[in-house]
Amino acid sequence: MATQATAREIAVVGVIGAGQMGSGIAQLAAAAGCGVLLLDSDTAALSRAVASISSSLRRLVAKGQLSQASCEHSIEQIKCVSSVQELRDADLVIEAIVESEDIKKKLFVELDKITKPSAILASNTSSISITRLASATNRPCQVIGMHFFNPPPIMKLIEIIRGADTSEEVFTKVKSFSERLGKTVICSQDYPGFIVNRILMPMINEAFWALYTGVATKEDIDTGMKLGTNHPMGPLQLADFIGLDVCLSVLRVLHNGLGDSKYSPCPLLVQYVDAGRLGKKRGQGVYSYGTRSSSIKP
Ligand code: NAI
Repeated sequence: MATQATAREIAVVGVIGAGQMGSGIAQLAAAAGCGVLLLDSDTAALSRAVASISSSLRRLVAKGQLSQASCEHSIEQIKCVSSVQELRDADLVIEAIVESEDIKKKLFVELDKITKPSAILASNTSSISITRLASATNRPCQVIGMHFFNPPPIMKLIEIIRGADTSEEVFTKVKSFSERLGKTVICSQDYPGFIVNRILMPMINEAFWALYTGVATKEDIDTGMKLGTNHPMGPLQLADFIGLDVCLSVLRVLHNGLGDSKYSPCPLLVQYVDAGRLGKKRGQGVYSYGTRSSSIKP
């Protein structure tokens, strides 16, 4: 199927999921001059997203990195919507909802029905097969992975994943659009975890095993990896920032997709997620960011 819009012509971007990633993606698209339609099934998440985007842009104004007028313009570009039907004018839809293949597939079926024929459907999935998400639609050549990193306004990378049927034209358009957002692009084939999570998640999992088996304290594990390997953040702290639920989902995709027991999630990670300790976004993960207490050891 032919697609018409060039990257410049991506004027309206739909973002679904207004959590950690979706709110940052909406901010980036608005700052690049696009109209943004931001959708979440949870209205409280939408309010939190608008507040966090406004405060993030105002911080840039305070630092002298953005003019007051551009800040106000970006905020005005974002419209919160309450149904998928309202995304019918989007040239590009980027979904950043929960990391579940079934839930994402249902969304792609809906999006395929309501978006215009030329629209590109992108997933910010951390690990799920783009080919399988695309197969839920009648436009697999216009489905692509657009994997941002957390937080999207700051991290410089976008990993683009081609599904088995993604057209060269759609790849080129999404690459140009990513560059318009000021990002460096890397390209991955559609294998579990793509490039970055294929390498990162086993390290995070190993850090959980080290904690679980009593090799060291969480602080020493993180300090070891920070100062010993020059990482800006230790793996346990990074897992908290990513979200322990997201880490667990990605490890399960790696384990199921690659069939190697080395990807089997550490029981301590599973237990934290079962207990609702999802990381920084919930105030508690490996570390505490709020007042909530827990009896899980360590
Ligand atoms: P989050 O939990 O912060 O936000 C997810 C949002 O999606 C929530 O606000 C939720 O209400 C909403 N949602 C869930 N199902 C929905 C549906 N059917 N329709 C509309 N809204 C729905 O999650 P986060 O961290 O933003 O992750 C989102 C996606 O981005 C996942 O696929 C994740 O794997 C991926 N990702 C996450 C990264 C991270 O560091 N957290 C990095 C790169 C990708």
